[in-house]
Amino acid sequence: MQQIKTMLDDHSAQIDTPCYLYSLSRLRENFTALKAALGTQVILSVKANSNTDLMVRCTSFVNDGFEVASIAELQTIVGGERIRYVNNPSADKKFLRSAISGKARIIVDSLAQLDIVTEIAAKKPVAGIILRLNPVVLKQFNDKHPKVRPDQFGMDWDTVCIAIERCKANNLPLMGFHMFKGSYSFEKTAMATADAAIGIIAEFEQRFGQSISFVNLGGGFGEKWQQSKFDFSAYREKLAQLPEHITLAHESGRGLMASIGFFATRVRYTKQIEDLNYVICDGGIAQNFLLAKTENTLRKLNTPALWQKEGHKEQPQVKAACQFVGSSCSKDDVIGKQSDEHILPQPGDVMIFDNCGAYNASYTVSPFLQLPAATTYIIE
Ligand SMILES: Cc1ncc(COP(=O)(O)O)c(C=O)c1O
Repeated sequence: MQQIKTMLDDHSAQIDTPCYLYSLSRLRENFTALKAALGTQVILSVKANSNTDLMVRCTSFVNDGFEVASIAELQTIVGGERIRYVNNPSADKKFLRSAISGKARIIVDSLAQLDIVTEIAAKKPVAGIILRLNPVVLKQFNDKHPKVRPDQFGMDWDTVCIAIERCKANNLPLMGFHMFKGSYSFEKTAMATADAAIGIIAEFEQRFGQSISFVNLGGGFGEKWQQSKFDFSAYREKLAQLPEHITLAHESGRGLMASIGFFATRVRYTKQIEDLNYVICDGGIAQNFLLAKTENTLRKLNTPALWQKEGHKEQPQVKAACQFVGSSCSKDDVIGKQSDEHILPQPGDVMIFDNCGAYNASYTVSPFLQLPAATTYIIE
């Protein structure tokens, strides 16, 4: 935050707003910390933030692989050495063919996808196949596993068994399995999933008639996982009970990306309607849909930090509560608020929201009103 304020002090006129600013060094820190906490590989879920510059620059340290869900995401992660995992239940032949040509590993969601992969594999070598397990499998292998919200992804155990047979019959490079129990699911389920994985691995290998080499235990880390009370050291001990010949991985989107991103928007006008102050900004719901919290029943709005335009600090500082509103005609275009302990911004000031690195830029109502897209800056 301080770095951004200094940038604004030095080059305010050159910084276009609304904009996203992503900190590469914070991404490096998050990645290193999560890897150390888990003691396994960490795969970056590109869906959380697929900004091309960021993806290109982070490949210098994100070295365990990228999980991609579309052809566009696949093409964002370029370079022969990059390990890419393709994962989408609706991935079609075109997508699967281009993934296989690009030497990506395929996370197979269904028998129908496996048929397509088998057909392509007759002509082109496949870098690796990983079967996606639906979370219902976990309960089957560990009856104490906490309830996981049902979803449509992956296969149940009977289907997995058929898939293993088909991989065996067709001599396909089956590496292992993958599971994902949903965002924010890690702390509640991690230990029980590790217990289930021990049984799944044994049965999987027995059916395949060979050892497997790779298991992705999923993710579900929150934005602020570093501050959680979860006992990572006990978890690492638990994982040490899994067979040594298997490379373990987890994957994360928001846990790596959320805290690296800031959203900055300039104040255009301020006005008062009866006793309510409104600060009208040049960006809002059209560039950062999530800040408006329209999907939450309780709209707990964030309070941005204030950067004051040159000369404003020297003027009398009025403190007042206000709402920050965006540049569209939607009543829901309210992206933040502050209490009366804060200085009331003036036109030309910049409001900076933190924790905007995951999904904020991509999960959007753009091109609503054909408002301009946010600019992006990568900072060290
Ligand atoms: C298979 C899979 N992996 C990883 C993620 C990333 O989730 P998060 O950003 O909560 O880490 C998702 C999110 O939808 C997902 O579906």
